[in-house]
Amino acid sequence: MYFPTLYHNSCALARMIIANWKAQGSEELCQQYIRNSAEWYGINIVVCPPYPYLKYFTNSIRSDFLLGAQTCSSHEDGAYTGEVTCRMLKEFNCNYVIIGHSERRAFEDNDVIEKKLVIAKKYGLKTILCIGEPITIKQEGYNAIISYLNNQLRMIKYCDIIAYEPIWAIGTGLTPDLEELSLIIRALKQHTTKPIIYGGSVDPSKVQHLGAIQELQGLLIGSASLRPSEFSEIVYNYKGTKISNEKLYDSSLE
Ligand code: PGA
Repeated sequence: MYFPTLYHNSCALARMIIANWKAQGSEELCQQYIRNSAEWYGINIVVCPPYPYLKYFTNSIRSDFLLGAQTCSSHEDGAYTGEVTCRMLKEFNCNYVIIGHSERRAFEDNDVIEKKLVIAKKYGLKTILCIGEPITIKQEGYNAIISYLNNQLRMIKYCDIIAYEPIWAIGTGLTPDLEELSLIIRALKQHTTKPIIYGGSVDPSKVQHLGAIQELQGLLIGSASLRPSEFSEIVYNYKGTKISNEKLYDSSLE
């Protein structure tokens, strides 16, 4: 895997961008990502396409980004029709798996989410645990949001990265007020040293503001990741928000 070493030297935080295609994308989009990837050097990028497209990235001769799955089975192996296991994901060179995305929490309770986290860790996958409050909790105010998120963080010991994704911000074009977002990220940081990233309606115009939140270590991009030129702009803009002495690329995230 090619990355310039320029970013390895300084200390402090590393940043990452995760592309979550959801049940969207195509072979053509895979090819576009592989073609564009040369421009995305110097920052950790994790691409999470639907399962059938993983092979395009596994087999690509040159891969400048890491591969992730959008979910995994809560079972190790066996007669579970339709499931894809962590062992299989590893065979396809997946390094990461998203667990507990709000679009999946509709079918999965906390027990299932915990089982997935445990199995993913057992198979050496890096786990991205999604947390986020619904609009009803947001309307109750800051304290309600924090207690809701703290409850979701009960499984924090099994995850490597926390993705804060307010449910009301996903796919709506809405993003939290930056001051409030900073406060929330800071409150979460009191409980963990693990990287926290933000997701929910991120587009190129919002990246500069999000990049200014020092405690935020990355972005999870949904719909904008389906448009390669917009995604490139996000990557480019986010790299531009680098805080001095901050490293953008961290080999330990591989
Ligand atoms: P969005 O999705 O960027 O389309 O809002 C983010 C997500 O659900 O991860």
